[in-house]
Amino acid sequence: MRERIPQPVYLKDYSPPPYLIDAVDLVFELDEDDTRVTATLQVRRNPAVAGAGPALELNGEGLTLESLKLGSQRLDPTQYRLSEEGLCLPRVPDHAFTLELVTHLCPKANTALEGLYLSNGLFCTQCEAQGFRRITYFLDRPDVMARYTTTVVADRARYPVLLSNGNCVAAGEASHGRHWVRWEDPFKKPCYLFALVAGRLACLEDRYVTASGRPVVLRIYAEPQDLDKCGHAMASLKQAMRWDEENFGREYDLDLYMIVAVSHFNMGAMENKGLNIFNTQYILARPDVATDADYERIEEVVGHEYFHNWTGNRITCRDWFQLSLKEGLTVFRDQEFSADRHSRPVKRIDTVNLLRTRQFAEDAGPLAHPVRPESYIEINNFYTLTVYEKGAEVIRMLQTLLGRAGFRRGTDLYFERHDGQAVTCDDFVRCMEDANGVDLSQFRLWYSQAGTPELHLEAEYDAAGRYLDLKVRQSCPPTPGQPCKRPFLIPLAVGLLAADGSELPLRLAGEPAPAPGTTRVLPIQAAEERFRFVDLPERPVVSALRGFSAPVKLNFARDLAELAFLFSRDSDGFNRWDAGQQLATRVMLEMIDRASAGQPPAPVEPLLVDAFRNLVTGQLEDQSYWALLLTLPSEEYVSAAMAVIDPDQVHAARQRLKRELAVALEAEFLRLYEALRGDEHNRFDAAAVGRRRLKNTCLDYLNALDNDTAHRLSLRQFRETRGMTDQLAALGAIVNSHHPNQAECLEQFYQRWHAEPLVVDKWFMVQSTCHLPGTLERVRALLDHPGFDRGLPNRVRALVGGFAQSNPVHFHAKDGSGYAFLAERVIEFDARNPQLAARLLTPLTHWQRYDPVRQGLMRRELQRIAGAERISPDVYEVATKGLG
Ligand code: TRP
Ligand code: ZN
Repeated sequence: MRERIPQPVYLKDYSPPPYLIDAVDLVFELDEDDTRVTATLQVRRNPAVAGAGPALELNGEGLTLESLKLGSQRLDPTQYRLSEEGLCLPRVPDHAFTLELVTHLCPKANTALEGLYLSNGLFCTQCEAQGFRRITYFLDRPDVMARYTTTVVADRARYPVLLSNGNCVAAGEASHGRHWVRWEDPFKKPCYLFALVAGRLACLEDRYVTASGRPVVLRIYAEPQDLDKCGHAMASLKQAMRWDEENFGREYDLDLYMIVAVSHFNMGAMENKGLNIFNTQYILARPDVATDADYERIEEVVGHEYFHNWTGNRITCRDWFQLSLKEGLTVFRDQEFSADRHSRPVKRIDTVNLLRTRQFAEDAGPLAHPVRPESYIEINNFYTLTVYEKGAEVIRMLQTLLGRAGFRRGTDLYFERHDGQAVTCDDFVRCMEDANGVDLSQFRLWYSQAGTPELHLEAEYDAAGRYLDLKVRQSCPPTPGQPCKRPFLIPLAVGLLAADGSELPLRLAGEPAPAPGTTRVLPIQAAEERFRFVDLPERPVVSALRGFSAPVKLNFARDLAELAFLFSRDSDGFNRWDAGQQLATRVMLEMIDRASAGQPPAPVEPLLVDAFRNLVTGQLEDQSYWALLLTLPSEEYVSAAMAVIDPDQVHAARQRLKRELAVALEAEFLRLYEALRGDEHNRFDAAAVGRRRLKNTCLDYLNALDNDTAHRLSLRQFRETRGMTDQLAALGAIVNSHHPNQAECLEQFYQRWHAEPLVVDKWFMVQSTCHLPGTLERVRALLDHPGFDRGLPNRVRALVGGFAQSNPVHFHAKDGSGYAFLAERVIEFDARNPQLAARLLTPLTHWQRYDPVRQGLMRRELQRIAGAERISPDVYEVATKGLG
């Protein structure tokens, strides 16, 4: 049992800090085993907080205090109290004062990758959310904003490059082969944005001139062997800077923008002011080592961190419950950036796929929480899909409701009103209200109520009256701590299609004329509403929730023919794709029903086969989109539609449907595949990416046949291609079939790429996600592979995360072996890296969705983890809350 049960923090208990810190001067004497940090803090009472000055309580963890001075006076241990959580000064002066703290820490022993740590011999920091307290004693909360100067001292030979936030203001030599560099950040910031990097780094440099003509130096630092893989990230950065000027009127504010790529990183990247630190995964790319998906993610993450400069850094969060203030808004911004750069419908589909599978699952499980959570034990557990992805949907709904121009008025006001402040989600919504003269009280429920709302739609056409009644009902299932929900304000975008596919006028009863355009947004406010569309000469087909205008589950009973019609005719790119997904899901669910009832399989629904035949033999300009139309819904998506998930049945149904389509359309898929082959120089541009995506979609269908032809094609592609997109697609096909050359190809791939860590991750992942029998044994064996580095989060995520998150059929093996495997790994990795362990664990918390046997097995593993000795608060919180 635990000695101390971790205690939650509540939003309702927020109070402003009794003290403020205006300026921070830091001196780091870097050493792998013993780094000395001297922090000089300018402290004063917070004038906004009344009452007699209470004690000054500074946060601090894992630090050794060498000395402490208040003003010029050195304090002795009777004048302060040290604890596990920090340092308390019971009496401090009323006037402003200086505090000088000298502390020591050991970067080499830091495997949690929070605070100051080493990655391949590079010093780097990660302070969000609460890592700064592992560097020095401090008021480690985002509503304390200060100006920083940082001096870094280190051995010159091993650490030639010394970086921190802001501008480099001085440098020099020190004794014993050491040197120093001083940095000054002119902008005040919360301590979670502090960063330091030191090491032997190569640098790609470029220049950017802002809209107002200010030159900015751009630098991307990486290990020397990776310098030739930084070009795409640099190009993405410049694109992002331009985009933010053009779309949000936001310019960069320092003379220097630095990005450092490090191998050991818990998340994607970090927006530290002027000095972003990235997981190498989201910087390094070259066509031979990175896939098109990697290129896309790099562009998106580089954009994301850059956009944080305004949404997060200049304006930050008052407290961590407001995390979505910066994350939801910044994800929305990076999504729009990607949509503008490439295909808007494709971007929307990718976004919604993630939301509907992963975020909806989170919202339906025991860890469901509102976009603005009300309590947490470990804030690191709340960097969730709900805060990020649903948070972005909430911002998108504001834009949908207010229109683009109205939304822009709102963000302009936000930047003007709150620059330099630490604010709340509510402050953001108020800017939207004030800039547009609207009342968004009901809309605010999106921030406070958890769970995925359900929209039930019914359409009734009256031929005599030439009108269509659209009945809308909304509800939201209970979530932990929230048994009853109030109705949300839901923007429902609809269009009406005539039988020939043309768009019908959108005129509501009582209106003098139809609304302009082919889509209109109905604001749903009540639990039940009815809309009457008039002037309709024929029964229209309703295209509802166009563009996925709200993060809801849509329930709209319609026949397969209507879905097939929308799948071929809807002018809304998202809904056209979605109709295909609904159609295929219905077909798979029917297969599952028959199988469960012991009936023999029926032939595949001809409507679906015909629709796919039309697609494969057709011609669409946007080939990425074309590929998506041809892609069957994921097992996760189909599972979500079942009352009780049967992962084996879902897998079997999806495999069977894929195979049947491949059998029926083999010649067509082959022809299209061959037509798309050819030398592409593996460039990353929309046309080439689309071509590869479509080609590899064909390969995937053909591979479902697992025949000689498929084997020949995948082997040829594997051997001939110079690009990682095609090579990995081919290897995936080979691994997921009974390919005679499987072992040889895997071995060759490893031998060829063993010196490229990010490619080695792919090699592990392609095996951990294999759906064929024997995968768990293989994954277990890979734990002992010389290439499996337990200290490298990307590697752990590839092998263990890949298995638990992206291999439902093996993870959910009925004997519980997959669950036991995950629990063992969580307990093992928790000792080293709690943040990582807690994230790996989440698939076990979705037990409620499975049959009683699996439920029991999953809960047993959660109990085992919760009861294990010395688990971190991170894992404790997920395991205990996950038990429900
Ligand atoms: N703020 C970062 C982002 O979304 C993510 C982040 C939060 C993070 N905590 C972290 C990154 C810890 C690395 C480690 O851009
Ligand atoms: Zn972010």
